[in-house]
Amino acid sequence: MWRIVPTAPTTLLLLEATESSYQLPDKGMLGPQAIFDPAMLDTPRLDDAFRAQQGEHETKVLVKRRGRLAAITYPFNPLDAVGWHGDLCAVRINWRDIRPLMSHRYHLPPSAHTTFVAKNFVVCTFCPRPIESDPGALKVPFFHNNDDYDEILFYHRGEFFSRDNIHPGMMTVHPCGFTHGPHPKAFATGAKGARTETDEVAVMIDTRYPVEMAKLPDGVEFTGYVDSWKKKPEAVAG
Ligand SMILES: [Fe+2]
Repeated sequence: MWRIVPTAPTTLLLLEATESSYQLPDKGMLGPQAIFDPAMLDTPRLDDAFRAQQGEHETKVLVKRRGRLAAITYPFNPLDAVGWHGDLCAVRINWRDIRPLMSHRYHLPPSAHTTFVAKNFVVCTFCPRPIESDPGALKVPFFHNNDDYDEILFYHRGEFFSRDNIHPGMMTVHPCGFTHGPHPKAFATGAKGARTETDEVAVMIDTRYPVEMAKLPDGVEFTGYVDSWKKKPEAVAG
C-alpha cells in the first residue's frame, strides 16, 4: 500500500510494471556502484508525517486488478507500520545522483543510461555529460530501427542533443517499426563537433507494449513535430 502526499501541485508520470517489478540493470564489469550507487536510492521513512496520518478514521484503499480499480474501505488507516524489514520497498533516485557513463572515443548506446528495467520496458535517464572528443568518434545517436520497442522520451530540461523542436516539458512517442536517427539540425551540429557537452536531462521509456494514445485535448499535441524530420541534414549537403 502506498500514498503520495505532495505539498505543491505536482505533475507525475506513472509507469506500472504490470506482471513484473522494477529491477536495477545488470552493470556487468562496471560493477554494482556504476551509474548510481544503490546507496543513493532514497527509501521511505517512518517519520512524523507518516505517523500523523494514522488513526481510527475511515480510509479507502484502491486495489488495481485485471485493469480495474476496486475499493476496500477500512475503519482505520491501514498505513500503520511501526517498522519494516526487507528490500521490497519504494525507492527514489534524483537524476543529480546519476554519474553518466561516457567514452571520448566510443558513442555509448542509450542502454548504457539504463536506470530501471522491468519485464516489458526499460527506463533510461540522460544526464548532462561530455560529448565524445575524438575526431573519429560518432557524436550523435546512430541511425537505427526500433523493431521491438515503442520509444517514449520526456524532456525535463536543457537542450536535447539528438532532437530539434523539442523543449522542456515535451514528450515524444516514436512507435516501433521505422528507421530513424538524429534530427537534421542535431545531426549537423554533431557532425561539426560544435558542442563539447550536453546539458540535457531526459527520461526515456522503451516499451514492448505498444503505446495506446488517448484522445488529447486541443492544443496539447504539437502536430508539426512529424514534419520536423523532413529537412535534409546540412552537414551532408555541405
Ligand atoms: Fe530510437
